[in-house]
Amino acid sequence: MTERVLTGDRVTGKLHLGHYAGSLQNRVALQEQYETFVLLADVQALTTHFEQPGLIRSHLREIALDYLAAGIDPGRSTIFVQSMIPEIAELTVFYSMFVTVNVLRHNPTVKAESKTGGLDDMYYGFLGYPVSQAADITFCKATIVPVGEDQLPHLELARKIVRRFNELYRPVLVEPAALISETSRLAGIDGHIKMSKSRGNSIALDSSPEEVAVQIKKAVTDPERIRKSDPGHPDICPIYAYHRAFRKDGSLEIREACEQGRIGCSACKGLIISALEQLLEPMRQRRTYYAARPALVDDILMSGTRRAREVAQSTMQEIREAMSLDYF
Ligand code: TRP
Repeated sequence: MTERVLTGDRVTGKLHLGHYAGSLQNRVALQEQYETFVLLADVQALTTHFEQPGLIRSHLREIALDYLAAGIDPGRSTIFVQSMIPEIAELTVFYSMFVTVNVLRHNPTVKAESKTGGLDDMYYGFLGYPVSQAADITFCKATIVPVGEDQLPHLELARKIVRRFNELYRPVLVEPAALISETSRLAGIDGHIKMSKSRGNSIALDSSPEEVAVQIKKAVTDPERIRKSDPGHPDICPIYAYHRAFRKDGSLEIREACEQGRIGCSACKGLIISALEQLLEPMRQRRTYYAARPALVDDILMSGTRRAREVAQSTMQEIREAMSLDYF
């Protein structure tokens, strides 16, 4: 079987190190080997930002730059815009016939994301976004979906939808598998389990060297460690999480040195600052290149969307035949 990779991001804000560690890094590696689709999920962004469509519009280009800066190569990967693929919306409608409201209400990620916690007040589109996400994944018959851990319930639903569709109609669809990176949940600089823009605990991929240093210096460390000689607890320290994510070779040494009170927090932060510089500097250069060429970026999005649309139309043809909806 030929593997195909699909993943994407909600277009709600620019990307940060958490996105990079959680999935961008994987995508950049996978594109060398597999056909890769990268989705700018503007429709999914509407589930929470339907009152600010203008914001989504400006974030779309921002995230496209994040992708290109991070090393997603438009020659290898198809970057496309979700709302421009009407087949995704069509599939969502068809799938929604056989997904129960109860299954959606029990989706732990949907629950965690609902701000009020009031399931009964949830918008229909928001409650159903995992169904739309299954359409994102299946229109191109993706087999590998590199995502963060929080997306696992959605992947499970997508797999269920595929099985159900294939058994109800005809075996058209392919079951996707999640690919979770080792560091799928990167801690925020405030020590919170997850880096997120809305919590204000993130480091954006387009940060300047000064901004990175400021954020890292501000980051909390092990609160029980007052003096350098106090034994540290790397497992509760966000800075150690960054060592694991971005300094793979050196992270074990840091763990030992911290636990034995041989390295202080500020020296430890210094190492991570330089590791991040090595990671981010080439990204800044690529970003500068593409940011100066907005027409080129639009071209990349347009041709990616055209390519995704062709794939979507061909799947849709099979779907209609399987469902006996191919009237004329
Ligand atoms: N829900 C994903 C996120 O919040 C974004 C997304 C939309 C996605 N459609 C997808 C991820 C399809 C993987 C596959 O990050």
